[in-house]
Order: sequence, then C-alpha cells, then structure tokens
Amino acid sequence: RRLSRDPAVNQPLAYLRLRRAIRNVVEHRDIEPGQALPSERDLSRLLQLSRVTVRKAIAGLVEEGLLNQRHGAGTFVAERIIKPMSRLTSFTEDLRARGLNPRSEFFERSVGEVTPEESMALNLSPGVLVARLHRVRYAKEEPLAIERSVVPASVLPDPMIVHDSLYQVLETLGARPRRALQRLRAVSLGAQQARLLHVPAGSAGLNIERRSFLDDGRVVEFTTSWYRGDIYDFVAELQTD
Ligand code: GLP
Repeated sequence: RRLSRDPAVNQPLAYLRLRRAIRNVVEHRDIEPGQALPSERDLSRLLQLSRVTVRKAIAGLVEEGLLNQRHGAGTFVAERIIKPMSRLTSFTEDLRARGLNPRSEFFERSVGEVTPEESMALNLSPGVLVARLHRVRYAKEEPLAIERSVVPASVLPDPMIVHDSLYQVLETLGARPRRALQRLRAVSLGAQQARLLHVPAGSAGLNIERRSFLDDGRVVEFTTSWYRGDIYDFVAELQTD
C-alpha cells in the first residue's frame, strides 16, 4: 500500500489514466475536432494532477495524432486525420480512435483468378484464386478514401463476409496482418476518383500501396488506396542509428 502511495509509482499510472480519459472525451465528442482542450494549468488544477503528468499525457496523444499543439495557442483536437505510419492499424481502427464510425460502400466483392500483377505482389502462382474488394470508405457520410484490396482466397474464401473492417474479418480467420510494407505517392485525383471522394478533379491525393504479411511470411493483403490529401496527414517517427 505504501508503494502505491509513492509518487514514483503513481506518476506513470496517472498519466496513462489521464491519456485514456482524454481519449474517451474525444471519442464521445465532448470536445469536437478543432476545439481546444483546457490549458495544462487548468487541467492540472481541476484534476489535482501535476503539470508533468498532464504534459506527458498530452504529449502521448499529440504523438498519436489525436491532438495537436499550436505554439502559444494551446492544444486542440486534431481536425485533419493524422495517421502514424509506424503502426499497422486498419482504417476502421484509426477512425474509431477519433470517435468516428466508418462505413464502406462496395463496388466489388468477388473471387477470381490472380492477375500477373497481383501474383507478383502477393507471391502467388498463376491460376490461384484471390478475393477482391473495391470500396469507398466513409466517415460521417464523408468519403475519405478509395481502396482496392486483394487477398488470397485461401485466406478469405468469401469476400461477401466483409461488411466493414477487412482486418476484423482477417482476425476472426486467424490471419490478422503482423507486418506491412507501405509506399506512399503523391497523385492528382482523376475525374472519377475525385467524384467518388467529393473533391474537385485534379485535387491532391495520396496513393498508398500496402503489402501485409502474416507471421510465417505469407502475403495476406495487397491494397491500393487513394486517400484524400486535404484530410490526411501521415507522420513517422525518425531515429538515427
Ligand atoms: C488501411 C490500409 C489498408 C487496409 C485497411 C483495412 O486503410 N491502407 O491496406 O486494408 O486499412 O481496414 P479495415 O479493417 O477497416 O477494412
């Protein structure tokens, strides 16, 4: 008991608790995107926590992309969607963490023979079957991305069982990706893509290719996405060797 009263033990727990509490507040939209958080000083006074604890909790959420700080102006709930690049998360997980409920509209959910390009990307022999998903991804009725995913049919025999999250379905099939290689490229969105994403033709977009792997090294997904450049920020932490 004495140990739990020791500030050295309580401190890290307190900042993690505060981090969770702030995340809850954002998820429940008690503070809307773009709105300011109470100042560090007010939070520490209100919650009876040290400034160090408050600062540490906020710093963690800034790093996650949920909050951003404007110098001298304070801390705000992020308006743009800031996606840390080092974490292998799904579209659904990213948006749920921001209190948004994503939805997909499918153009295609089918099974067919692998094309030469897909067989290279997925490391599959010619003639093998793959499941294809082609969809527009929305949050709050706003289209955010177009995604075309290809998954070996040996992993996903029936793509019709995917309604919302592909990764959730893969998880239930015991095939949740563990590692991925991702390539980002700036593009200008063509007329059709722009129409689907409700932006003017020629708007900036991010073309992202992700190849995800299982623990045993098998490729489980080859996805090409077009994300809206006016909404998404991709951030990565860099370190020296
Ligand atoms: C991101 C990735 C895709 C991945 C998708 C899964 O958008 N760029 O490669 O397929 O997440 O998301 P969900 O599980 O919501 O379908």
